[in-house]
Amino acid sequence: MSAQLETVAQVGSADRFGRHDLAMYEYYDRNPPYDPARAALERTEEGLMVRRLQQVLAGRQALEIACGSGWATRLVAEVAASVVATDLSPTRLKLARRRQGPDRSRVRFLRADAYALDQVPGSFDAAYALAWFAHVPRERHQLFLDGLHQRVGRGGRVFLADERYNIGEDLECPGEQDSYELRCLDGGARYPIIDNKFDEAELRRIFGPGARDLVIHPGKDYWWLDYTIA
Ligand SMILES: C[S@@+](CC[C@H](N)C(=O)[O-])C[C@H]1O[C@@H](n2cnc3c(N)ncnc32)[C@H](O)[C@@H]1O
Repeated sequence: MSAQLETVAQVGSADRFGRHDLAMYEYYDRNPPYDPARAALERTEEGLMVRRLQQVLAGRQALEIACGSGWATRLVAEVAASVVATDLSPTRLKLARRRQGPDRSRVRFLRADAYALDQVPGSFDAAYALAWFAHVPRERHQLFLDGLHQRVGRGGRVFLADERYNIGEDLECPGEQDSYELRCLDGGARYPIIDNKFDEAELRRIFGPGARDLVIHPGKDYWWLDYTIA
């Protein structure tokens, strides 16, 4: 990292996870929604990731975590038996509901905190989250995974994926085990956001202990993985 980068403390306040949770909430409430074009998915690495997502979720009663504006919800709804798509942001959920269109027979959108999945009603045999795990502080990995595994149950399938590239600028974060990026919005708002990058070895260390048949794809721009809850 270069010497002139700002530190996390310069950008935000002292309570790092409280500030991070708020930054995650506000930034993703306000930034333009992500929605890759169908045609682009035919020929990109992200398209390969989506194909594996659809394979893993086919015929399943799926729980989506942090659905955002619902681009993946729409793709999974094409193949799953049902989808409960959750997010903390009511604004994102409203957008996702609108974009889902009139055919919502197999999809429900619910507000839920990814760290309190026991509050989500329904019965699931699979769960997935895209562009979420990178934002989970390392100290909370186990908390998140325990909640996810308990909610879906042994034998359930899990699919997770995330980016391997930066969207914002790296922030110096001395003494922290997480990597932060500075995300900026039109109008000048600045949000320090945890955005961890993982190699295959670290993913295996994190997910291996709770998983059967763990398959990891460390791509160039994305990683994705799936497994059965052990
Ligand atoms: C990077 S976006 C990913 C959205 C979507 N999965 C996608 O791929 O475009 C992260 C999402 O996490 C949501 N979020 C932030 N904190 C959350 C929390 N504690 N529980 C659930 N969702 C949360 C945000 O509202 C946002 O929609």
